[in-house]
Amino acid sequence: MVYAADFALPGMLHGKVLRSPLPHARIRRLDVAAARAMAGVRGIVTAADVPAVRYGTAVRDTPVFATDRVLFQGQAVAAVAATTPEIAEAACRAIALELDPLPAVFDAEAALAPDAPLLHPDWASYAALPVLAREGNIAARARMRHGDVEAAFASAHRIYEHRFATPLQHPGYTEPRAAVAAWEGDGRLTVWCNTQLPFDMQAVLAEILDIPSGRVRVVVPGIGGGFGGKLRVGVEHYAALLARRTGRPVKVMTTTEEELTAAYPRQATTITLRTAVDREGRLLARQGRVLLECGAFANSGPGSAAICMQILVGPYRTPALDLESLAVYTNRVAAGSFRAPAGPMANFAVESQMDIIAEDLGMDPLDLRLRNVVREGDLGPAGEALAGVSVAECLERAAEAIGWRERRPAPNRGKGLACSWWMTTGGSSGVFVRLAPDGTATLVSGAVEIGTGALTGAAQVLAEELGLELEDVRVAGADTRDAPFDYGAQGSRTAFSVGNAARVAAAELRRQLCALAARRTGLPQEAFRLERRAVVGGGHRIPIADLARESQLSGGGLIAHGTYINPAPPYDPTRVENHPLPVFNAPSFHAHAVDLSVDPGTGEVTIHDYVVAQDVGFAINPTWIEGQIEGGVAQGIGEALSEEIVYREGRVLNANLTDYKMPTAQDVPRVRSILVECPSAAGPYGAKGVGEPPCIEPPAAIANAIAAATGRRVFSLPMTAEKIV
Ligand code: MOS
Repeated sequence: MVYAADFALPGMLHGKVLRSPLPHARIRRLDVAAARAMAGVRGIVTAADVPAVRYGTAVRDTPVFATDRVLFQGQAVAAVAATTPEIAEAACRAIALELDPLPAVFDAEAALAPDAPLLHPDWASYAALPVLAREGNIAARARMRHGDVEAAFASAHRIYEHRFATPLQHPGYTEPRAAVAAWEGDGRLTVWCNTQLPFDMQAVLAEILDIPSGRVRVVVPGIGGGFGGKLRVGVEHYAALLARRTGRPVKVMTTTEEELTAAYPRQATTITLRTAVDREGRLLARQGRVLLECGAFANSGPGSAAICMQILVGPYRTPALDLESLAVYTNRVAAGSFRAPAGPMANFAVESQMDIIAEDLGMDPLDLRLRNVVREGDLGPAGEALAGVSVAECLERAAEAIGWRERRPAPNRGKGLACSWWMTTGGSSGVFVRLAPDGTATLVSGAVEIGTGALTGAAQVLAEELGLELEDVRVAGADTRDAPFDYGAQGSRTAFSVGNAARVAAAELRRQLCALAARRTGLPQEAFRLERRAVVGGGHRIPIADLARESQLSGGGLIAHGTYINPAPPYDPTRVENHPLPVFNAPSFHAHAVDLSVDPGTGEVTIHDYVVAQDVGFAINPTWIEGQIEGGVAQGIGEALSEEIVYREGRVLNANLTDYKMPTAQDVPRVRSILVECPSAAGPYGAKGVGEPPCIEPPAAIANAIAAATGRRVFSLPMTAEKIV
């Protein structure tokens, strides 16, 4: 596998980015003269070289460079290209950057105070962005309300109110952001990079560079993990700007320190959840308030704030709801998306509280959940009818596998459960398929394989439909010049939507092949089917390769395209103030169960067993699905127990992978996967999105198991030893 950072072009320069050391400051002086005069330095770009564009479609994204103010430690101020990375770094240090510190705010609660420093006092200039709120440090406000909440609370048997907190967490990919940019003489740009969204990158780069998008080609050779952290422009724009400035190809790669201070972490949240129940433990009403800290720029904060409410509702029947979710600016890193954005934080709150309620009512937590879960035909959080609902089955199977009946098998040992739901994000996909004269197929897709195996799944779908073996299908793509559009590797959608598009293309090729067989044999087209690399019917067996060769030699050729067009989201806008809820397209359901013990002296958690029962609709490839589940649980264990980007006064204290503690093989137990198959109407063979869900439930399941083992309830992530003992 070749990665973006492996690319080396003749005459290539190396770029480095100068970043703000302070969390909030006015730029008094930015003088690059001394740096520019250094031997080996070939070019420097700053905000003065970038047109004042507002890129991104709906929200205010992190700008290319700071202009008059820096708003977080790590915000880019300038970029340098030099003959070696070392010279570029030295030149960054030689740039005279003089900053006048400004009052700053570092948590969402404080940012809402009336006298808090304003991150973006210039609201007027955002008038074209309808989804943004325009009040104080609130980037967006989403609400969900239905039923008679006041009456429900007034009639409740019990009311529970708790507050949960979750920190900034790094998406956890091991390959840093990297890009190589090269311009051709006619003003065309090619960027080899590791984005999850090549077509989005193409559009964003065109805006930043102020050129037509048709002049930008984005190629993604391979990605060493993305997890949402590579959805947004990272270093591609610096490479492109520096390449244009110097007339030479430029490579820019981030360091681990930059990744931890200036990439796109999971947002920090504080969630207050108030729940009313009746005597039997039935949910009557929920009130919730989410403060989701998006950092200095909104990026995906508004979207995550909206998703947060869906997960906070959880897969439960709740007659009355009043949820509000605010995306809030602070002077910390501009957060982004991370696998199941908002999922683990909201699930940690709602599923921790479910266990607290069960404990208080003297109920088994499994029974409490089963009493309240949604069933087939219930309405989802955006008012849509839910189909393929399997949450009860997931809970029962996970509980059985973990041995739920014996919930506290030994002192300091306990078991925990959590469940959730998640959508499969839509987004359109196009594919092009060619059957070559040797009978093999090429599937051209603009989707990026981010290591999930999703494109293998799409290739399997194509092979299945054409009667080919998987080894007969080659997948090409992730090149905006040569491949049809794909919405991108995000939202657990790739196998789902590329698979759907592949089925459409395959149906057309099947028709072409059967027509050729009919012509050759004189039998009707309907007499034929495709199996084992041949068109078969009426006593005939004609190899697909023969038909493909004949067709091409006689002026034909077997080609087809297929599309999957994302259905318009039918959300109910009256339930949401200024940010729409993404719709629950082909929702998936899942339950996690964990068995762990806690060392009473040190608070160290040892996980003995972990079970995931996940409804995948239809398991196109059980092996890669289990891989997604194991990986998601590993990430979830990190979220639960150890991962936090630690700040003091707006500066990161642990910008390295020694002090930012991700789980290793020693921290992750064997994960047992139970693949539940409750088909969706929308996915290929009923498949549902698979990739994001497995990292949602681990924090809650582990918190519940810790409480079962120790009697102690931890309300904030990560649940480090000192919080447990
Ligand atoms: Mo995902 S956070 O949609 O890559």
